[in-house]
Amino acid sequence: MNILLASTEVTPYAKAGGLADITASLPIEWQKYGQNPIIIMPKYGFIDVHKYGFTPLEKTLIVPMGYWTEFARLWLGYLNGSRVPIYLVEHNEYFDRTGIYGDPHEYSDNDRRFIFFSRAVFEAAKALNFSPHIIHAHDFHTAFTMAFLKSYYNNDPHFSGAAGVYTIHNLAYQGKFNPNSAMLYSGFGMKEIFPGSWFEQFGAVNSMKTGIMFADKITTVSPTYAKEIRYDYYSEGLRDELNIRGADLVGILNGVYYDVWNPETDKYITHNYNADSLHLKKANKFEYLKSFGLDESDNLDMPLIGMVTRLTEQKGIDLIQERLEHYLANNACRFTLLGTGESKYVDFFNYLKWKYPKNCFITIGYNENLSHKIFAASDFLLMPSRFEPCGLTQMYALKYGTVPIVRNTGGLADTVTEYIPDSGQGWGFSFWQYNGDDFSYAIRRALTVFGQEPHWDLLRKNCMARNYSSAQSALDYLKVFKWALEKAGLK
Ligand code: ADP
Ligand code: GLC
Repeated sequence: MNILLASTEVTPYAKAGGLADITASLPIEWQKYGQNPIIIMPKYGFIDVHKYGFTPLEKTLIVPMGYWTEFARLWLGYLNGSRVPIYLVEHNEYFDRTGIYGDPHEYSDNDRRFIFFSRAVFEAAKALNFSPHIIHAHDFHTAFTMAFLKSYYNNDPHFSGAAGVYTIHNLAYQGKFNPNSAMLYSGFGMKEIFPGSWFEQFGAVNSMKTGIMFADKITTVSPTYAKEIRYDYYSEGLRDELNIRGADLVGILNGVYYDVWNPETDKYITHNYNADSLHLKKANKFEYLKSFGLDESDNLDMPLIGMVTRLTEQKGIDLIQERLEHYLANNACRFTLLGTGESKYVDFFNYLKWKYPKNCFITIGYNENLSHKIFAASDFLLMPSRFEPCGLTQMYALKYGTVPIVRNTGGLADTVTEYIPDSGQGWGFSFWQYNGDDFSYAIRRALTVFGQEPHWDLLRKNCMARNYSSAQSALDYLKVFKWALEKAGLK
């Protein structure tokens, strides 16, 4: 199967969150299964093309935009040393910037940038003589590819065998734009804006809706989130659309690329370990704490709760604001966080760090290396998300024998099962109601088990035995791709 994956993020070239890890691992797995994937993404100004071995191709793309055309160039590289081709679309006016979506605020021309990119994907496929069977788009940024496939390229022999699959990673970001500009750039014109239009919601162009309505099949990143989003609370205003397309909506659990996320081989951590040498994990914690100025006299054994996260409302930071300080003040645990995001949360964590210099370690910024160290060093990983389409960090934590404490929602519900001391089964701690009491109770249950044998070792071994591999996830996508081809009448 020729699979064209279009995304605005791919690890390690451009990453804002989990999306990038998924788009980097799926194609490698598909290729192992004998499929023929390519990736297309924008050439951002911050990508070091020389370091990653990208070379420019002698091909000029002519990209229709509204009633005019624009030009772009393609660069070719290979995904993380694999044989999967990744093409970068160069259009400096749009992408030669310091951010992916904004820096720090959303770029005001994101409609134009992403509609251009979505259209360029088709022109790139033609220029490369790549006839896809599947166009796989991710999140609102590439949602317009689904509409383009069914309109401008419907009768183009180059795409006559292609079906569209649209993956929702996060409904909270929908790409709502002014119809006057978005309909101009996409070339559909204002005639397509009317009540009930597949492009429009509440007077705005809604890219997420466009992707949902035009795709042959829609996937989202966990089975539980696929169910949740059919209800008001989680649907972010798209309940009706998601129910209309309910028969074509499938939840596929994200997978972990264990070649990178494995404590036995992780090149970012000093003391590698596996389930049989769990005692070595502690050395990573001690080293981590010492890097923040602690020494042997500081009771380095105290439980350490870690987080690696975007600082947004989604991640449940307000519960932490409400309840964590009590534990730090009483020396019940230490807390460490690596993250970037909203300034109100940054201010709060800086306050905690200032008030509890020996119990709270905060790094504001993006740091791949440090993220690995935190998964290895922490005893627990905290993820009290308000909603969580899938979540990758709890799955990384499991592999590192770092016990997840999560809210029972979305992918967290699918990947974390409460540890029951009586039976010795389960591999985490979770709470359901979004409130401080239930959150705090989950933390207390977790801290009670900390260091208590035989539970502590058993629990961590249960964690490490979990297998949420990207190989499985990639297989599930291939099934959906077949269904999409059937649905489009192509098989
Ligand atoms: P989301 O996509 O909602 O941000 P996920 O858990 O799916 O949440 O994925 C987050 C990804 O981004 C993980 O790979 C995590 O390690 C990484 N990440 C998040 N914040 C940072 C940061 N500040 N530095 C390094 N990596 C980060
Ligand atoms: C989104 C979601 C996260 C998911 C990731 C990758 O950013 O917030 O839960 O794991 O996409 O699919």
